[in-house]
Amino acid sequence: MSKRASQENQNNFSVNDDASNKLKNFIQEADEIKKQLRQETLSQERLRQKYLGKNGLFNQLSEKITKISTSERKTAGLLLNHLKENLTDYIENLADQDKEPLAQQNKIDFTLPGIKPRVGHIHPISQAIEEITHIFEKIGFIRVRYPEVDWDWYAFESLNMPQEHPARDEWETFFVDQPPHPEKGKVVLTPHTSNGQVREMERVGEPPMRMINIARCYRRQQDVTHTQMFHQFEGMVIDKNINIGHLKGTIDYFAQQFYGKEAKSRIRPFHFSFTEPSFEVDFSCNICQGTGFIKDENNKNNKLKCNFCKSGWHEVGGAGMIHPNVLKAGGIDTNKYTGFAFGWGVERSYTLQKGLNIDDIRLLYSANLSFLEQF
Ligand code: DAH
Repeated sequence: MSKRASQENQNNFSVNDDASNKLKNFIQEADEIKKQLRQETLSQERLRQKYLGKNGLFNQLSEKITKISTSERKTAGLLLNHLKENLTDYIENLADQDKEPLAQQNKIDFTLPGIKPRVGHIHPISQAIEEITHIFEKIGFIRVRYPEVDWDWYAFESLNMPQEHPARDEWETFFVDQPPHPEKGKVVLTPHTSNGQVREMERVGEPPMRMINIARCYRRQQDVTHTQMFHQFEGMVIDKNINIGHLKGTIDYFAQQFYGKEAKSRIRPFHFSFTEPSFEVDFSCNICQGTGFIKDENNKNNKLKCNFCKSGWHEVGGAGMIHPNVLKAGGIDTNKYTGFAFGWGVERSYTLQKGLNIDDIRLLYSANLSFLEQF
């Protein structure tokens, strides 16, 4: 039973049948005041005035006690006490209700401070992509994006890697279970961004062209240094009289912009079917500045081997002068034009920039916030 209902029971007024009519009327009036109060919709303050105020209903009734005979006045007095208690309780209880926490009354307190949403930030690899794009845009490269699901032709064949060519094995390709294109062959998840080369030649047509293609790549490998999905960026320049000097200058420029003024690059002979000559590209280590050694804080005359690179250099990717077969596949006149291309991984470049020895590269794509929030 609620607090209020129990009070009402306690305060049921009753007297013997032989009570005078005056007392009976008095009691009836008191009951009516109680009943009336329960039907009110006035505010608590107005109720106090109306029932308990100086000229309120309670006082009006109490004044009538003088009309009750002295023998019955005591009963009438008790009744008034009960009535007053009852009216006061009822009105004060309304006040308690008003004081209930706002939330329980389904009201909104606009003065309360709001709930702060968690603020995120751009994923470290997206940050790196923005930075790389900006660096190349400054020297006139145009950022493009070519399909991440592409025909065999763009991913391999047009890059001087015919069907059954052993060089294809290196790319650990995911083939998509789709009917092949009559000329362009199977559908693949692009294993590198080099598929953008011939596509860009087709798009631009007549050189000059300077493209930077940054996209997701996929390879069938997954371990602490590989994720099945990763990013590469591919640069390509085609114009009259383009030579290895331009390639080396561009790589050096990138090294200094991305790794700092002291950074150096190095190219070493290698083999790729789509470039001739071809190179592997190394950058000087960001921790030891390419020396292979770091200061020993405990002994100034001693040097410690740099644990990050072990040799002063980090290998990042490949580059070279575009093979004439590739230029021809893109419809470029090889008597008039030459070009260079380079390509390497965003994840690798980024972790080298930060000097990060991440023991498991898969963390980058783990959606592990305590890891990602550090960048
Ligand atoms: N596509 C090559 C890879 O994924 C990297 C590469 C090498 C890109 C030489 C080039 C290049 O543009 O000229 O390993």
